[in-house]
Amino acid sequence: MTPSRRHFLMGAAALSAAVATPEMVRAAIAQEAAAPWALATADLEADVAPRALSLVHGRAPAGLEGTLFRNGPAKFRRQGGIATHWFDGDGLMRSFRISDGQATLAARFADTPKRRTETELDAVVTPGFGTAGDSRARIGSPDDASAANTAVMVTGDKVWALWEGGSPLQMDASTLATERFVTLRDDLKGMPFQAHPRFAPDGTVWNVGLHGDQAIVWHLRASGELIDAQVIRLPRASYLHDFTATEGHLIFVLQPWVFDHAGMPYATQFAWKPEMGTQVLLVDKADLTSTRIWELPAFGFFHLGDGWEEADGTIRFDVAANRDNTFAIEGARVLVEGRGTVPGNPSELKLVTLYPNGRAEMTSSGVAAEFPKGDPRRAGLERSLTVHVAGERGGRPLPNGLAVQDWKTGRNHAFNFGDDQIMEEAVFVPKPGASAERDAWLVAPSINLAEGMTELHVFDVASVENGPVATWRADVALPAGFHGAWRG
Ligand SMILES: [Fe+2]
Repeated sequence: MTPSRRHFLMGAAALSAAVATPEMVRAAIAQEAAAPWALATADLEADVAPRALSLVHGRAPAGLEGTLFRNGPAKFRRQGGIATHWFDGDGLMRSFRISDGQATLAARFADTPKRRTETELDAVVTPGFGTAGDSRARIGSPDDASAANTAVMVTGDKVWALWEGGSPLQMDASTLATERFVTLRDDLKGMPFQAHPRFAPDGTVWNVGLHGDQAIVWHLRASGELIDAQVIRLPRASYLHDFTATEGHLIFVLQPWVFDHAGMPYATQFAWKPEMGTQVLLVDKADLTSTRIWELPAFGFFHLGDGWEEADGTIRFDVAANRDNTFAIEGARVLVEGRGTVPGNPSELKLVTLYPNGRAEMTSSGVAAEFPKGDPRRAGLERSLTVHVAGERGGRPLPNGLAVQDWKTGRNHAFNFGDDQIMEEAVFVPKPGASAERDAWLVAPSINLAEGMTELHVFDVASVENGPVATWRADVALPAGFHGAWRG
């Protein structure tokens, strides 16, 4: 090897490191130690057999009966190679059942071709959102790369484990046994069906799949039967994890994180170009060729809240907006390392308003937020409340509380557990026989870091700031999940 200035400088750096002060040594040890939040991305080695949870606070509200299904990555590391990004771990479907005041938990991994291959090789080899993979990957179709790890949709007695780049993976809702990838129409086999379906007031379901600047728009019955699928062209090839909808329109928020060059991992294909601003594309559900565009300042995002349209044509929806995509690229990589400082800033809950005259504006709640969710009875319809996880801040990744934003009053009602908890997304469960927005519970798990266990909480929407009305604790810690769905 020919000596060079670069090698010389590296040698000099190594020399200076050799004269370390005690402070430097302690800092280095702290850097290497597992972070307090490391359980969020710990590996789960096997399925979790059904088990009772212990009630540790309050009592289950009368009338609350049903199952919270949740999906999220739960296996990242194998002897011969690891997933280097939070979004690339194997999907684990959790089932938290509340019945007769008791709660139970079971969880099973989605039995994907990716997981089978990687179990056989004892190495993560499949390329993903932020994991490069290698030549040992066995990919004949997009579904072969599916981690089936992002979200869940309930269709009758089945649940669909959703991912971003391929088909839904059907699992039995009772046993969580993996059954098959869902082909909605033979000629559309393997087409992407993303993780954030939107439920319309007419009981049907809309979803999308992205490929470059083309989007396949899926329209389904709640049973999972296909009504129609059409392909539309978007004004830019933007990274799009979530879309939203009003009763009459689909809404695509096109951030300035745009396709730049082919390559893997997937996220490396996109370049952040804030000078492009953010566009909002409105598409008429009744005529997908009828569109309109609004312009907003640049922001990054993963998640939107449901949209609605007011009598004068004004459209509103929530977004968990970020100043850029640092967390998506770097933060979610460090999160899997389980140590050190996680790059990126928390997202903030904002309300986007699109006026009929072509003007668009964003109203900020001023609150750190992710996973905005509304009352399912009002999906696509006017509402006041948005539920979200809260409390994330620089230096402490992931949320530690739950909050309800009231857009009518501008007030944010929050409960914070403190840093011993990692709060997960809540589902909104209407109270039986009631119709007001506040007549609902929030059901969500957390990871209790002090106890080293997963917990399940029930909050009352009307008094979320008072904390959970019931908390159960498991005898196992599951890593943090992404998205859930409730089946009453
Ligand atoms: Fe998501």
